[in-house]
Amino acid sequence: MMQREQVREHLAGTTAAQPSLSDEARAHYRERIAERLIARNAVLVAHYYTDPEIQALAEATGGCVADSLEMARFGRDHPATTLIVAGVRFMGETAKILSPEKRVFMPTLEATCSLDIGCPADTFSSFCDQHPDRTVVVYANTSAAVKARADWVVTSSIAVELIDHLDRRGEKILWAPDRHLGAYVRERTGADVLCWDGECIVHDEFKAKGILELKALHPEAAVLVHPESPASVVEIADVVGSTSQLIAAAQKLDNPTFIVATDRGIFYKMQQLMPEKRFMAAPTAGNGATCRSCAHCPWMAMNGLENTLAVLNDANGCGQEIHVDSVIAERALVPLGRMLDFGAELKRQKP
Ligand code: 13P
Ligand code: SF4
Repeated sequence: MMQREQVREHLAGTTAAQPSLSDEARAHYRERIAERLIARNAVLVAHYYTDPEIQALAEATGGCVADSLEMARFGRDHPATTLIVAGVRFMGETAKILSPEKRVFMPTLEATCSLDIGCPADTFSSFCDQHPDRTVVVYANTSAAVKARADWVVTSSIAVELIDHLDRRGEKILWAPDRHLGAYVRERTGADVLCWDGECIVHDEFKAKGILELKALHPEAAVLVHPESPASVVEIADVVGSTSQLIAAAQKLDNPTFIVATDRGIFYKMQQLMPEKRFMAAPTAGNGATCRSCAHCPWMAMNGLENTLAVLNDANGCGQEIHVDSVIAERALVPLGRMLDFGAELKRQKP
């Protein structure tokens, strides 16, 4: 299992906590960022888990707010010559691998992911060597070097369909790094899936007991769960899905209220699309705890107005440019390309 200590150490060594700014300062930053994006022929690509003001800025400036699969597509297909990726490191690396001719910056390269930290390329490669009969499928939340060792890359929005497809071809799977998502796809497809022992420190904290207690108080609510959550939480969900699938489910269902087990950054988009509905954060800490829901990724939270503007103001992006070794990038492009092709085919079949 991912060592909590390892994560704590990583976070203690980072410097990118976002300062609180006055409303006037925020307005100034927003204006300047919009100007600098145009001046640098750049576009802002943000994940649903970033802070609402970053998502709003991406939308207002012609960028995108999306899940990790759509971010990859958008960055690849957009004509801008520079991408500013507000998310976590693997998203920036994926953008660079898919668009090597573009310059890719992040507000801070310190923004990583516990799944990525918990799956070092050398140990992972030895694990693969021990299981040569298995097709290696890695989650997008991994380093470029781990992707370079894989046969397929996948995001949570197409994980069940891909594993089902491989299972039908008679393939046995080696899955990394999220053990909860791995267990979920195994359960849904019946495939032979051997899992790496990683976890997302945000989703791993959701508690079934707390969710059921909240549901008892709000029987009209539907429970939406991201599959990086533990099996006990997935079991009590009305809908399990990736970020974009959870948003779509909330739009489709008639419930007036939703208990949402994923990063609370997603509430920005949910509330924007469904102002008449109510979204509640699923509890993470159970009864009597001081923290009722800590559901916010500490690395996503590092993307702020100040560091975004600083990167745009400096020709070299304050050193926050993504570079991927060309040999690794070339290898990682193969499973990433398969992911995008598979995702596009699914979209054609089930628009
Ligand atoms: P999505 O692929 O659903 O955007 O999720 C990415 C992620 O980091 C979830 O924690
Ligand atoms: Fe990684 Fe979890 Fe943060 Fe997503 S929410 S980026 S899986 S640590």
